[in-house]
Amino acid sequence: MKNIAIFASGTGSNFDALINAVENGDLPANIKLLVSDKKSAKVIEKAEKKGLPTLVFSAKDYASKADYEAMIVENLQKHGVEWVVLAGYMRLLGETLLGAYPNKIINIHPSLLPAYKGKDAVKQALEAGEKTVGVSIHYVDAGMDTGQLIAQESIHLTGRETEFEVMEMVHHIEHQLYPRTLAKLFKN
Ligand code: GAR
Repeated sequence: MKNIAIFASGTGSNFDALINAVENGDLPANIKLLVSDKKSAKVIEKAEKKGLPTLVFSAKDYASKADYEAMIVENLQKHGVEWVVLAGYMRLLGETLLGAYPNKIINIHPSLLPAYKGKDAVKQALEAGEKTVGVSIHYVDAGMDTGQLIAQESIHLTGRETEFEVMEMVHHIEHQLYPRTLAKLFKN
C-alpha cells in the first residue's frame, strides 16, 4: 500500500476513477489528501463527501511558488504521503515539490505526448486535423508535460466525432489507464 496525495484543479473525473479503483481493491493505495489550487473546483466537494482531508490554497496568497510548495510539502509529510498523483492539476511544479518527491510525482495528459502539451490538448489535436489522439501518463519534471513517459494509449477517430465525443472517449481511456498504470508502479 502506498500513501498518495491527488492534486486536481477541476471536475475530478480522474479523482473519481482513482477513488473507485482504491475502493474496489484495484489500486493498492491510501488516498491521504486532495490538494487543489482552485477554491471553486468541483473535485473539492467530491473529496469532502468521501471524508478525505483537503488542502485548498490560492497561489496568489503566497509570495512565490517556493513558498506555497513548501507549505504543500509540509502537509504531504504530515499525512505520510509517498507518491503525488496529478489529476488535472493545471500548474507547473517547482523545485521545492520536485526535490521533495524525486521520481514519485506522476501526471496524466490527454494527448499522445510529446504532441499537444499544455491546456486544451484534445482541442489542439482536433484543430490540427489529427485522426489519432490519446492519453499519456508520465513522470513529472519542471517542464510542461515533458517528463519521462510511462504509458500511452491511442484512440483512432473517423473524423466525424464532435469535440465533446472525443473528450468522452479520452476520459473513458484515462479512467482505466491511470489506475492500472499506478497499480503497476506501486507494486514495484
Ligand atoms: C484530464 O483530461 C487530464 O488529462 C487533464 O485535465 C483533465 C482533468 O479532468 N490534464 C491536463 O491537461 C494536464 N496538462 P478531470 O478533472 O475530470 O479529471
